[in-house]
Amino acid sequence: MTEPTVAQETGVQVGPDISVIVPCYNEVGNIGPLVAALERALAGRRWEVIFVDDNSPDGTMAAVKALAQQNARVRGVCRIGRRGLSSAVIEGALSSSAQVVAVMDGDLQHDESRLGALVDAVLDGSCDIAVGSRHVEGGDNSGLANAWRHALSDGGIKLAQMILPVRLGDPMSGFFALRQETFARIAPHLSGTGFKILVDLLLSSPQRLRVQEIPCGFRARQAGESKLDALVMLQFLALLLDKLCRGWLPLRFLAFASIGVIGVGTNLLVMQALRALGAGFSVAQGAGTLVAMIVNFMLDNTITYRDRRLRGLRCVWGLVLFMLVCSVGALANVGVADMVYDQSRRFNEASIAGALIAVVWNYAMSSTVVWRL
Ligand code: GDD
Ligand code: MN
Repeated sequence: MTEPTVAQETGVQVGPDISVIVPCYNEVGNIGPLVAALERALAGRRWEVIFVDDNSPDGTMAAVKALAQQNARVRGVCRIGRRGLSSAVIEGALSSSAQVVAVMDGDLQHDESRLGALVDAVLDGSCDIAVGSRHVEGGDNSGLANAWRHALSDGGIKLAQMILPVRLGDPMSGFFALRQETFARIAPHLSGTGFKILVDLLLSSPQRLRVQEIPCGFRARQAGESKLDALVMLQFLALLLDKLCRGWLPLRFLAFASIGVIGVGTNLLVMQALRALGAGFSVAQGAGTLVAMIVNFMLDNTITYRDRRLRGLRCVWGLVLFMLVCSVGALANVGVADMVYDQSRRFNEASIAGALIAVVWNYAMSSTVVWRL
């Protein structure tokens, strides 16, 4: 492939063959060095890099825009009110019009000199998706920060290999390339949660993808720090569960219902404590319910709706709305439980019926009114 050429008949510069999609959050120190590295790695090809930033507080987007003013190959997408590596990659890839999209991290841990091999493997038709792999002959994973990260990565690999339709040495890789049309075809089926967009692609594709692993290194991070945390690990497990349930149980609902169970436990704990201090039932029940609602709201805001997290005044207003929604849910719970008990005289069934109505009501209203999906 040749340098950017100008179409003879129109005189207009033609678009890139390759879009490098880089999800970034607080990567201001890596943007410049990464663009310089891509200039070297992709010299002679028609390429662009699309940084997808989630409104990083460190000024990543300003650095991207400054570079873009001097270099037409640099593009930036800034997302407000949304967070997440996988969803950032999805939005970046869908904004590309190139033949091939390549995905890599923005912290120079992936070896950009392997991009040409990934792209050529896709273009020559030998595979649908070419993966920069640390776990094939010639690969190297020494850049992972410590033994804990190695254990985590190995554990994730084993879990993913149990349900992936193809055998892959490094399904945890975030460094891969595929045709843009292939990505666009799979995109509507993606979960788009967490970090592991490659696992999401392989599990979401309606057709089995032919995968080729190309050995590559994984360097130590150059600047900034890893964003991988316990929540990302939870999201990875939730992704696998979502795919196993074939999407029948929305991830969010699973998380919301699990946190609801924590709320019931919180309610009971607070009630027992207040009863032990001599409080009457109504005071204990009221206080337990209040504390449970606050705990549930905080957990839902951090986990269930992480990508829509409310902050500042919006968080306070969200808590008020959440308590209103849950109060109506509590009334519906009691009303339905009473009705079922009157007809069946079965205590447990009545109680479960009431709880189910409440959790479905609370989830539906929280998703539409509080976190506004
Ligand atoms: N837009 C956006 N939003 N980008 C993010 C977010 C986010 O919420 N979280 C992380 N990123 C970006 C980082 O800025 C970086 O460019 C890239 O995603 C990888 O994030 P790291 O925090 O560096 O992840 P890691 O070092 O633990 O790498 C692991 O995950 C990567 C992504 O799957 C390893 O498993 C890598 O192999 C893998 O590529
Ligand atoms: Mn990294």
